Amino acid sequence: MTIKKTVEDGVETFEAEIDGEVIQWDRGLSYSRHLQTDQLLSSQTPVSDKPDEMLFIIMHQTMELWIKLMLHEAGVAMGQLRADELAQAEKTLDRMATVLRHMIQSWEVLATLSPHDFLTFRGFLRKASGFQSHQYRELEFRLGLKRADLVLVHNDDAAKRAKLEEALAAPSLYDEVLRVLARHGFDIPGDKQERDFTQGYEPSKAVEDAWLAIYTRPQDHWPLYSLAEKVTAIEYYFQEWRFKHMKTVSRVIGQKAGTGGSSGVNYLVKALDLQFFPELWSMRTRMSAPKEGGNYADGGACPV
Ligand code: HEM
Repeated sequence: MTIKKTVEDGVETFEAEIDGEVIQWDRGLSYSRHLQTDQLLSSQTPVSDKPDEMLFIIMHQTMELWIKLMLHEAGVAMGQLRADELAQAEKTLDRMATVLRHMIQSWEVLATLSPHDFLTFRGFLRKASGFQSHQYRELEFRLGLKRADLVLVHNDDAAKRAKLEEALAAPSLYDEVLRVLARHGFDIPGDKQERDFTQGYEPSKAVEDAWLAIYTRPQDHWPLYSLAEKVTAIEYYFQEWRFKHMKTVSRVIGQKAGTGGSSGVNYLVKALDLQFFPELWSMRTRMSAPKEGGNYADGGACPV
């Protein structure tokens, strides 16, 4: 087999024929340089000599990469919402939901780790735990769940702490969605649009009323209705991720305490009640079925 060498735009370029296909590469940018595969593939450093630890490491690392993408896309979606590019924001939110579905599915791979497999190396992990994932915490903050006390886990790491504090103080995805509603004429209280964003979001009757109006007459508010369903999907799948994590952990460690010190599965069960977009859920209870002819089942006036 011969390799033909030429120079294109000052860059050495190579060409060969393999199985009737022309294969090309050059010294400008290779696959491994672009994707930094040398660095990526040398980042799996087991702390034990137990064969099952590799699965544990790669599961966490791949999840961290997907969380990184989620953070990136959340930033893109917020920019699109600020610019009132609702259709574009929907596309981004769709991608985020698809990433979450993929992450949910990937728990099946970890479920092949039996309790015995895990116990062979668990002691080597000391106090390391996903609870200390700064990216996961940042994602919770960016979506709308602000819990300032959790930043202290990163007290000894200035860069991570600064990043989390910035995310804590910034408007979240939900804050940006509420600002969109306000710009579309809905009566969103001023203290929901501008507030101390480091504080947890308190649900508001006025916000719930706005969502109820949109969901009661979707035909009149289609772009906002459609956006709301995309936002709801993010929380729906995020909770499913939490559930699969909890169930996988239960399958692997039963009711043992976590390496991070918490009560373990009980702690993860409590997290299933956490919410990012509370009124988008509570509003659904107040909806009533339209009668034929457009009247409302409870005989009351349409809440729009
Ligand atoms: C056998 C595998 C796993 C076990 C036994 C396990 C166990 C636990 C436990 C017990 C906790 C509660 C905190 C603690 O006391 O440690 C926790 C939290 C957490 N784990 Fe896992 N985990 C596993 C895999 C994963 C994977 C693959 C990820 C992906 C990144 C992950 C991410 C997290 C996160 C983000 C938290 C914090 C959740 C919150 O604060 O709401 N875990 N894990």
